[in-house]
Amino acid sequence: MPSILQCMDCSQQYPVDKIIYNCEICGGLLDVQHDMDKLRHTITRETFDRRLGTLDAPYNSGVWRYKELVNPDVPDGLIVSRPEGNTNLYAVPKLAEWAGVAKLYLKHEGENPTGSFKDRGMTGGVTQARVLGVDRVACASTGNTSASLAAYAAWAGIEGIVFFQNKQIAFGKLAQAIAYGATAIQINADFDRNLALVREVAGALGIYVLNSINPFRLEGQKTIIIEAIQQLRWQVPDWIVCPGGNLGNSSAFGKALHELYEIGLIDRLPRLAIIQAEGASPLFNSFQRGFDRLEPIHAETIATAIKIGNPVSYPKAVRTIRWSDGVVEQVSDQEIMDAKALIDRQGIGCEPASACSLIGVRKLVDKGVIKSSETVVGILTGHILKDADSVIQYHNGTLENIHAQYPNHLHQSEASIEALSKILESRQPTHA
Ligand code: F0G
Repeated sequence: MPSILQCMDCSQQYPVDKIIYNCEICGGLLDVQHDMDKLRHTITRETFDRRLGTLDAPYNSGVWRYKELVNPDVPDGLIVSRPEGNTNLYAVPKLAEWAGVAKLYLKHEGENPTGSFKDRGMTGGVTQARVLGVDRVACASTGNTSASLAAYAAWAGIEGIVFFQNKQIAFGKLAQAIAYGATAIQINADFDRNLALVREVAGALGIYVLNSINPFRLEGQKTIIIEAIQQLRWQVPDWIVCPGGNLGNSSAFGKALHELYEIGLIDRLPRLAIIQAEGASPLFNSFQRGFDRLEPIHAETIATAIKIGNPVSYPKAVRTIRWSDGVVEQVSDQEIMDAKALIDRQGIGCEPASACSLIGVRKLVDKGVIKSSETVVGILTGHILKDADSVIQYHNGTLENIHAQYPNHLHQSEASIEALSKILESRQPTHA
């Protein structure tokens, strides 16, 4: 059976070539539903292990290696791939010790072609745009989605359109969207309003929306988890920890784990922890109240990528937490920036939102939720250079309301051996 679109609430089905983002009957979010029976009988760990290291498209992509679980029916010739994925899973013993767990791995999604995990979703979404024959794609974005959309639209030869808020957009991301040639529009509104606007405008003008409301995006993002587990030789960690903003990733992770279990590639589910910034934590608030309902908030955080107060994938994130016996935690901007400095100092680096994963582990260990004997995979979602301003300001002490715990001050020197020696001989080693 070919894959279909299916409402997560009322199970109403639609063909995959229909442009639709919510169920026409009940308004629920849609899943791309694959033929799980067939997959159970045809896919083994071997299927995916055999493709490791291949030079041949599309299986050289860390998304399309798992094509059967992403978009099994798409002809290879239509796939728009850079190729993405194949990101490193770093064992980080020093950070494990700091966080208080036996084993910590960081999967660095900042190593994707445009520097964030969004490329995994965008290859899925822009490929589907090609299948549908559309020539314009659009998104609202806190930055990374727009950078990725702009790149993949350019690569596919179609028009990319991106809506930004006009405040607090990290420069690296803005620069990418402009450079890749998207129609880039700054709007006097926050992300949540821009998402509503893009959906309205796109509906009126026949433009295909590539925010994570688009289920083909999430099919691509599932592969973060599939690849991480394959890198662990299919041994399931105890926990997977990731930042939560619009909750597309959280949604995709739950679906990935559910499907891997259903087709027998893993024998148990890890628990998922979603970490939000304190000023942008509507999922955390709802979790505290037993997921009674989502109460949208006005979001504020230094981690601009996740400055989102009305996450569109909320119902799917709740499903993920229920499926995986998961938890939701919140962390302060101060904690985010200090954890980021520690990740950076390992020589790995990430953008602020990504650091939620590390500080989230430490906080959950302190609370006794994650046990010190457990193995944890944290997801780093974006590259350090996405938001270089925040790095410089952290280290020179000019970030508002942040007191840097791990600063590395920039020295100024005269061009003389004497002045340089003075600095180098008085300098304390700063390695962690
Ligand atoms: N980390 C980074 C670096 C992000 O860019 C985002 C989301 C997230 C985490 C949160 O992921 O939304 O799936 O919960 N950025 C979106 C954007 C919203 O527009 O680039 P999520």
